[in-house]
Amino acid sequence: MNTKSKSGFSSSLGFILVATGSAVGVGNIWRFPYLAAQNGGGIFLIIYLLLVLTFGFTLLTTDIAIGRRTREKALNAFGAMKSKWKFLGKLTFLVPLIIMTYYCVIGGWVLKYATVYLSGCRDQATQDDYFKSFLSSHASPIVFTLIFMAITVFIVYFGVQKGIERFAKVVMPGLILMIVGIAVFSLTLRYTDSNGIERTGMQGLMIYLKPDFTDMTFSKFLKILLDAMSQLFFSLSVSMGIMVTYGSYVKKDTNLSRSIKYIEYFDTGVALLAGVMVIPAVYVFYGTQGMTSGPGLMFVSMPKVFNAMGNIGTIIGFVFFAMVTFATLTSSISVMETLVADFMDLLHMSRKKTSLILGVVYSIASIIICLGYNVFYFEFTLPNGQSAQLLDIMDYVSNSFLLPLISFLTCVFVGWIIKPKWIIDEVEASGDKFSRKRLYNVMIRYIAPVVMTILFFQSTGIL
Ligand code: PFF
Repeated sequence: MNTKSKSGFSSSLGFILVATGSAVGVGNIWRFPYLAAQNGGGIFLIIYLLLVLTFGFTLLTTDIAIGRRTREKALNAFGAMKSKWKFLGKLTFLVPLIIMTYYCVIGGWVLKYATVYLSGCRDQATQDDYFKSFLSSHASPIVFTLIFMAITVFIVYFGVQKGIERFAKVVMPGLILMIVGIAVFSLTLRYTDSNGIERTGMQGLMIYLKPDFTDMTFSKFLKILLDAMSQLFFSLSVSMGIMVTYGSYVKKDTNLSRSIKYIEYFDTGVALLAGVMVIPAVYVFYGTQGMTSGPGLMFVSMPKVFNAMGNIGTIIGFVFFAMVTFATLTSSISVMETLVADFMDLLHMSRKKTSLILGVVYSIASIIICLGYNVFYFEFTLPNGQSAQLLDIMDYVSNSFLLPLISFLTCVFVGWIIKPKWIIDEVEASGDKFSRKRLYNVMIRYIAPVVMTILFFQSTGIL
């Protein structure tokens, strides 16, 4: 079966919403704030914004235009453009393969928190070591991960592309409203700690917004750059084949340049707002030391915020985690959908059979990742100096190591072999102007390959 026979998106809006549905997920709400906090707030923010407007736009445009012009998904698209480059399609395919091993695990964490608030046990979730003890418990994370996985597989199994479209239309606006509301509340927080020091949400906002260049060294700068770039790839779902596949469903008369702008702005907007929601709250309750706590950040700080809201916090907490669960689902579905579509072609199997097999394989993989916090616990030091468990290692291999490599190869391929005009013509095929054409040219030929090379060496620990 070939995905080419699949119906395209019914409208540009449909495409924008579905692509945004893939892009906006825990990457924006969970990963962005903790990376920003670990990297000193303001500096990370500025670097990230610059990267979105240059690299993000370049990579997103490349992926979507390749998909639409070749009408192929990533696995075949590069080979269709030039047979010698078929390997790049295969390399790209590795990324969703790896991401899927842990994405549902995080989905499970979010789902767990939604159920905690639903059952009214929010006092538990507010305790300082609740997240840690949840993670290190044996059964609970596995159960929630498997439920999350089952929902993802169920939707892909029935091939409800249209269902996803409808899903995204409701969830996305609701999520934004929620985040804006909670962010505003976070800014009003005030807390006096045991040393009598009072901290406010507005001070936390300043830490988030104001870049602090004291003690900045070249290697520290490179680390922030790598973190910001890996976040960008992950958040926009670029260079991993997802956007190529979506591009192949887009109609020729869709204004690509404009659609890409929307996806870019929307995804970044959600991440920035999530930062306003999480970082001031962490600062208020835990001070600057709390900012280094890493992946648990959202799960530790948000319950504190909901607690500070009084009784209504239980309901708001539930709605919040439910919305994040949905946002995570639209993303996990997009990864699973890509994998299923590819394996259907590779193994010549039906959608249902492929979904079930992948569902079983990934359930096992996810269980192993969950056990990385207890049975298989170890501390591994990543080349960037951070201590890592299984989940962090998978995250690092896909986002910090493979993605710079894939992006480098894609830029060389498009910039020097296929030539940027190939992409630019496709963007303009609808008769609309490609407003950032010159920037695209310079980025794809010169800047992106150089920076990706540096980041690749940085990620391996050589630099
Ligand atoms: N972009 C998603 C997020 O920010 O949560 C994560 C993601 C979705 C990564 C789909 C990869 C992917 F294929």
